[in-house]
Amino acid sequence: MMLFEPFAIGSLTLKNRIVRSATYEKRADDDGFVTDSLIEFYEDLAKGGAGLIISGNALVHTSGRSVQQQLSIHNDFYIDKLRRLTDAVHDSGGTIVIQLVHGGRQSFPALLGGEQPMAPSEVYDPTTRITPRAMDDKEIWEVIEAFGDAGRRAIYAGFDGVQLHGAHGYLINEFLSPHTNRRDDYWGGDEERRFHFVEEVYRAMRREVGQGYPVLIKINADDCLEGGLSPEESVKIAKRLEDMGVCAFEVSGGMHESGIKTARTEILNPEQEAYFRSAAALFKHHLCTPVILVGGLRSRPVMEEVLIKGDADLVSMSRPLIREPDLPSKMEEGKEKADCISCNGCMRFDKLDVVRCTQI
Ligand SMILES: Cc1cc2nc3c(=O)[nH]c(=O)nc-3n(C[C@H](O)[C@H](O)[C@H](O)COP(=O)(O)O)c2cc1C
Repeated sequence: MMLFEPFAIGSLTLKNRIVRSATYEKRADDDGFVTDSLIEFYEDLAKGGAGLIISGNALVHTSGRSVQQQLSIHNDFYIDKLRRLTDAVHDSGGTIVIQLVHGGRQSFPALLGGEQPMAPSEVYDPTTRITPRAMDDKEIWEVIEAFGDAGRRAIYAGFDGVQLHGAHGYLINEFLSPHTNRRDDYWGGDEERRFHFVEEVYRAMRREVGQGYPVLIKINADDCLEGGLSPEESVKIAKRLEDMGVCAFEVSGGMHESGIKTARTEILNPEQEAYFRSAAALFKHHLCTPVILVGGLRSRPVMEEVLIKGDADLVSMSRPLIREPDLPSKMEEGKEKADCISCNGCMRFDKLDVVRCTQI
C-alpha cells in the first residue's frame, strides 16, 4: 500500500506518508518551556507510527503570541528542554520538524501585556474585534531575524527540520494575502511585493541553518474569503519558494476571519474528506517539490486514492491523532477509518486544561 511506502523530503527519509500536522497542545508551561506532559505526548505520537511529526506552532518572537502555554523558541534558554523532546521522539523511532510562527493580527493583547497586535496593515478582524497596528520597517526586519534565529535553535535542539507557518491568517500569511496586506512599500502593493516578507524570512532561515537543512512551509492555498489568496495566486507563491529551495508544501486554507474553514466539522462521508484536495492537485500539477495535503482526511481508502491519483505525495492529520496518536500503526494493521468525529471539542482552548479529545 502506497500510504506505507517510504518517502523522501529533502534529506529526510520518512518511513511512510502519514504526517502529524502541527497541532497546538496547550502543554508547554506558562513561559513556553517543554514540560514532561508534552514529552509524554510526543512519545505516544512517535510510537504511534506517523512518518513525520510536525510540532505545535512554536513562537519565534514574543510580539506574536496567540495562545497560552504555547511552545516557544524565541530565546536560547529554550534549547535544552526542546532537546529533551527531540531525544524522546528519536528514541521512540520518530522524525520531528518544528513549526515556527508569529501570530501577527491573530495575537491577543491579553497575551502581549496589553499591547496591540502588529500586522502588515491595520485591517480590522471582526472575529476577534481587533484592529492591529501596522508594523514599521524596523519591526519587520526584527521578526524576520527572529525566524532565522529560531531556525538556528531548532538545529541545536535536534529537530530534523523546520516548517514555516505560512497559513491560517498568521503573520507570514498576512503579508502574502491581499486581504490583510494593504501596504504600498517594499512589503506590499502587488503580488511580488507581498512575497518579500516570506522571501526574506526564508533567506534569514537559510543563512542560519545552511544549505541542506529541511525547510518546509504550511501555506494557505485559499484564504477562503473575498479578496484573499486564491489557489492560482498561491501556486505562483509556491513556485517562487520552490525555486528558492523550500523542500515541501503543506497545503491548507482559511484564517480566523473566514470562519471554520481550516478544521471543518461535519465530515460524514468520503466526499467531505480531504477538503483542500483540488488545491493540492493544482500544486502538484505546477511543482516538483513534495506536496502534503491536510484537512479532513479520515479514511484509509481516501488517503490511498489521493496518493495513487497523484493529488499529493503525503497526507497529514491533526484532530484524528489527538484522539488516536497510534492511528498510523492501526491503519497499517488494517483499520479503515479514524475514530475522530470532527466535533472540534479539542479546539475549545479556553475550556480545556490541555488540548485533548473531549469524546473519550
Ligand atoms: C487543537 C488544534 C490545534 C491546531 N494547532 C495548529 C498549529 O499549531 N499549527 C497549524 O498549522 N495548524 C494547527 N491546527 C490545524 C491543523 O493542523 C489542521 O490543519 C486542521 O485541523 C485540519 O486537519 P484535520 O482535519 O486533520 O484536523 C490545529 C488544529 C487543531 C484541531
